[in-house]
Amino acid sequence: MSDPKIVKLVDESSNRSSELPLINGTLGPACIDIGTLYKDTGHFTYDPGYGSTASTKSAITYIDGDQGVLLYRGYPIEQLAANSSFLEVAYLLLNGELPKPEEFKTFEHDVSHHTMMHESLKNFFQGFHHDAHPMAMLAAAVASLSAFYHDDLSVDDPADRKLAAIRLIAKMPTIAAACYRYSVGWPLRYPRNNLEYVDRFLHMMFEVPSEPLQMNPVAAKALDLLFILHADHEQNASTSTVRLVGSTGANPYASIAAGITALWGPAHGGANEAVLKQLEEIGTPDNVESAILRAKDKNDSFRLMGFGHRVYKNFDPRAKIIREMCHKVLAELGVNDPLLDVAMKLEEAALKDDYFVERKLYPNVDFYSGIIYKALGIPTEMFTVMFAIARTSGWIAHWIEQHETPGSRIGRPRQIYTGSDVRDYVPTAKR
Ligand code: CMC
Repeated sequence: MSDPKIVKLVDESSNRSSELPLINGTLGPACIDIGTLYKDTGHFTYDPGYGSTASTKSAITYIDGDQGVLLYRGYPIEQLAANSSFLEVAYLLLNGELPKPEEFKTFEHDVSHHTMMHESLKNFFQGFHHDAHPMAMLAAAVASLSAFYHDDLSVDDPADRKLAAIRLIAKMPTIAAACYRYSVGWPLRYPRNNLEYVDRFLHMMFEVPSEPLQMNPVAAKALDLLFILHADHEQNASTSTVRLVGSTGANPYASIAAGITALWGPAHGGANEAVLKQLEEIGTPDNVESAILRAKDKNDSFRLMGFGHRVYKNFDPRAKIIREMCHKVLAELGVNDPLLDVAMKLEEAALKDDYFVERKLYPNVDFYSGIIYKALGIPTEMFTVMFAIARTSGWIAHWIEQHETPGSRIGRPRQIYTGSDVRDYVPTAKR
């Protein structure tokens, strides 16, 4: 009888074989360790899009896509959404445990005291045209932090890594708000460290010199919840990008900037902006049916934005929380947004349509977040920036975990070469 902990792979053409151990995590399916496969059989594996590939071990976040489960450090997202705050969740992701009151106080103090941008960074914004997309500005500004903090930073020093994490979590809202204010021609605002994380961000976004800002607690609560839901999502495209860049030993600011650019795409974090634009294009509930028909048409590249997920094949637990919150926020803010009617009709139509049911395409986290951001007065181009502020806590937690893991290697996938066979150079006159 074969050892249940081993999978044996035999290449019948060459009679070479490999005994591949199974690795179990705390939760989730066992993984086949293919580390010796090439040496044993001379073969690589092929898995475009990494649908069957675990790229790393990680103790940060767990997802069960069939059951709709999302855990940060073992805590269900529903419990964190109901009881925690974004900053506490950021501490949890970074440190692995919920903070004791004194620990949280220190963390909050540290984050509050790294919120300012270097004054020179302000000049950096002047290089952009006023209508530059804020994600382009954010990625560039965060990458530029490596120029400010490169020389004295060692990625091998735990204290330096921690400081980089604090700086990034602290400065991200300041830089994000600066991107917005630059685009509308408002003077940049300094962070007010007496305010809490989300209030401080809203203040930097919306306060104008000419009148005091009326802070709305509903808005701050809603944004805090959205930040919790977006804080981490295991090895998604942007986090994997951060890890791949991080695996080269690159500076953490450069690694996170790479994550920001990966997040921007409409298949990933850019979906929240794309959802709102699509709902606006659909315009009224009457047009929902034709949108569904287009989404099902294989000859049309149109997809329903905010639907589907690589991992969740039952429901996205974040979407469930956000859906509820969306109605609450609109009611509490007294916003009557006709786009919500379009969204509800779209959701209802898609959920009973065979095409979406068979493919297990459910509304994802980004389906509702745009409607909430809009109700909070956040401009559409800033939606993915909101996602980036929250996800920075997850990205940097993964970057730290990667550097704490002994034996980490540079990420270096292989390929199936489909180009020309070897051939001789042809002189120009003979081509
Ligand atoms: N509308 C219409 N059809 C879709 C959609 C959609 N939104 N999503 C997937 N499909 C179809 C797809 O055409 C394919 O059909 P078939 O099997 O007949 O060829 C099938 O469903 C499987 O799709 P896939 O592209 O192989 O799935 P994937 O796991 O590679 O992609 C996804 C996942 C999220 C990129 C994709 O569902 C999508 O493009 N959704 C819209 C964009 C979106 O909302 N993205 C946000 C994801 S959640 C937040 C985040 O990750 O940042």
